[in-house]
Amino acid sequence: MNNLLKGKRGIIFGALDNKSIAWAVAEKCIEQGAIITLTNAPVALRFGQLNELGEKLNSEIIPADATSMDDLENLLVKSQEILGGKIDFMLHSIGMSVNVRKKKEYTGLNHDWMQKTFDVSAISFHKLMQTAYNLDAMAQGGSILALSYIAAQRVFPDYSEMAESKALLESFARSFGYHYAKKKQVRVNTISQSPTITTAGSGVKGFSEFFSYADKMSPLGNADTSSCADYCISLFSDLTRMVTMQNLYHDGGFSQMGMSPDVLNLS
Ligand SMILES: NC(=O)c1ccc[n+]([C@@H]2O[C@H](COP(=O)([O-])OP(=O)(O)OC[C@H]3O[C@@H](n4cnc5c(N)ncnc54)[C@H](O)[C@@H]3O)[C@@H](O)[C@H]2O)c1
Repeated sequence: MNNLLKGKRGIIFGALDNKSIAWAVAEKCIEQGAIITLTNAPVALRFGQLNELGEKLNSEIIPADATSMDDLENLLVKSQEILGGKIDFMLHSIGMSVNVRKKKEYTGLNHDWMQKTFDVSAISFHKLMQTAYNLDAMAQGGSILALSYIAAQRVFPDYSEMAESKALLESFARSFGYHYAKKKQVRVNTISQSPTITTAGSGVKGFSEFFSYADKMSPLGNADTSSCADYCISLFSDLTRMVTMQNLYHDGGFSQMGMSPDVLNLS
């Protein structure tokens, strides 16, 4: 399967280092013939490895704090100039919880920090879509994706306020998906990904134990970064042009399981 994204222009948020899901997505976009700009928060550009990826892929980097409407507008305007036209696809691959970072228990959260978490992890998705909508920056039939987690639907106690962030994120995909489909046949979806070993993932308490539990619960095993990137490419491509307003599980079957003998060591 080659050139699925030939002639398409994209913006990839959230590649921090070579473990980031967005890093793999950016590499596969180029492999499939797209041209892209890369973006991350200014602080992440100082501490992460995004410059290395930009050089490798010959893609320009435009810093943007995803909570700033001014930064998002600048990113969308400059990306269209650099790439030479309207944007065909965008990946929102952003997550951060202040209360998780500060190791607060769920029953004792700081609500100012919670608002910051929602702003970075979920409201930024609405801000991005609203900015693109008002600038008319997306091409007809384009595709917008964000990455989510099943804690939006089920209880995973250590995921804390990120559970509500993901519920909000998925809801924005549905609601904005309606308006964007009507305006320009632009699709908006979320991918609900398996636990994945990245900087954001590993910040969750008990992550490595939970990673192996999920791996045993999922009949196909945990979906890894590379397969997640493949799924993103399929959703950016024209092959999925009628898929919108969905939360799509990419989890090796985890979300449909009740019990697995592997977890109980019965098999
Ligand atoms: N790793 C997992 O287990 C897992 C599972 C399901 C979903 N996800 C989701 O995948 C996405 C990508 O995370 P990842 O696991 O690749 O980790 P990651 O740490 O590599 O990526 C998170 C990114 O968010 C960026 N970011 C934080 N604040 C920002 C801001 N204000 N503006 C712009 N960017 C900002 C970071 O700089 C970083 O690049 C997140 O939405 C995460 O919740 C991850």
